[in-house]
Amino acid sequence: MDKKQEWSGILGFLIAAIGSAVGLGNYWRMPYLASQYGYIPFFIAFIVCVMFVGLPIMFVELTAGRIFKKSFIETYKKLKFPWPGYISFILMVILCSYYMVIAGWIFMYVVTYPFIVYNFSDLITHNIAPVGYIFVLLLSAIPIYFGVQKGIESFSKIIMALLVILTILILAIALSENPIPPITLELPTNLEIWIMALSQSFFSLSVGFGILFTYSTYIKQKTSIMKDSIVIGFFDVLIGLAASFLVFVLLGGVVSTEGPTLVFDVLSGVFKIAAIGWLFYLCLLIAAITSVISLLEFIVSNLQNYGFNRKKALFLTVVSFLFLSLPSALSYSSLNLSFMNIPVLDILDRYVIGATSWVGIFFIAFLLQHIKEEDFVKHLDAGRLGKPLYIWCKYILLIFGVVMAVVSTKFLIGW
Ligand code: PHE
Repeated sequence: MDKKQEWSGILGFLIAAIGSAVGLGNYWRMPYLASQYGYIPFFIAFIVCVMFVGLPIMFVELTAGRIFKKSFIETYKKLKFPWPGYISFILMVILCSYYMVIAGWIFMYVVTYPFIVYNFSDLITHNIAPVGYIFVLLLSAIPIYFGVQKGIESFSKIIMALLVILTILILAIALSENPIPPITLELPTNLEIWIMALSQSFFSLSVGFGILFTYSTYIKQKTSIMKDSIVIGFFDVLIGLAASFLVFVLLGGVVSTEGPTLVFDVLSGVFKIAAIGWLFYLCLLIAAITSVISLLEFIVSNLQNYGFNRKKALFLTVVSFLFLSLPSALSYSSLNLSFMNIPVLDILDRYVIGATSWVGIFFIAFLLQHIKEEDFVKHLDAGRLGKPLYIWCKYILLIFGVVMAVVSTKFLIGW
């Protein structure tokens, strides 16, 4: 039997959870969405969605992890409704399969930068790009091999500190080289902004599908879930805003419709000292790796229900992803793997993960139906806010789920 996995303390848990939350979502997705929909309106919509939907889901997810203390799949099985466990598992495997490919491009850019001079967009279609994910996979597997405390926690502590320092440094340099463009206060009046902000809040906080649930099952001390969630949310929002602000300054405040490739193109050649651009990609890589670790840890923890010990489960996961990531890796290669002319990677990101994130609201809300009010309030430790938050999470969140479901379906069938 494997040794029980535990964080050394709350700080270890918090840093690893922030590591999961802060990822490509903050440095890549958020800036391009903000530049597309208008920085200020998007920030406002995003912060409102984080406060009223993302964080409440996190409250429930973390509390449920502390109460059920089992893997995600096992928890739903115990509640005699196994589907959310299986579906989340499949969605997270899909997310991990293409997320690692994007992280792999960044890895190849970061390591080949001193030797080859090219734009990021040239790299994506270069023959060496598709193998990048293999390095990311192996690198992320190392901390998992050493366990939650000695591996994930120790690794995250060092690397997250580096990430914060680098982000501040890059922002300071960008501000010293460029003037801050005028900021105009505009409100998010368009419905589409809200839809994108809502799904971005899920994606960025890593909530809805059991990732943070898994991390919270490893907490041994007493803790206030409300405070922990606010700390995780605060860092996640702050880094997302910092990266978007960076792009805002570098683009001179201009709205851009470039989409997913924006960050990659913008940052390749704007700094006076080219190496600063390289540092930004290093940040992206660090952030992406700690998120991949959380996805792989989730998969490994669930596979252990099926008779594998931790190391065997990890081995099986690594070998499987060598194949599972291939379709995404080949999407932008000379093979141009696509379906109905859309690259496989884009299909997975937009139509599978982007359009299904609403499901997570119901999955997590379902767990709350099996948690007693006093237990929720006790773990949340929110004082007088405990009871209203319970009602908010148990009933009101479902309304957001229904709205998201309707809108996402419309989006899927062409809107
Ligand atoms: N939160 C991560 C990011 O912002 C993505 C992620 C989503 C990771 C869900 C794990 C689970 O990049």
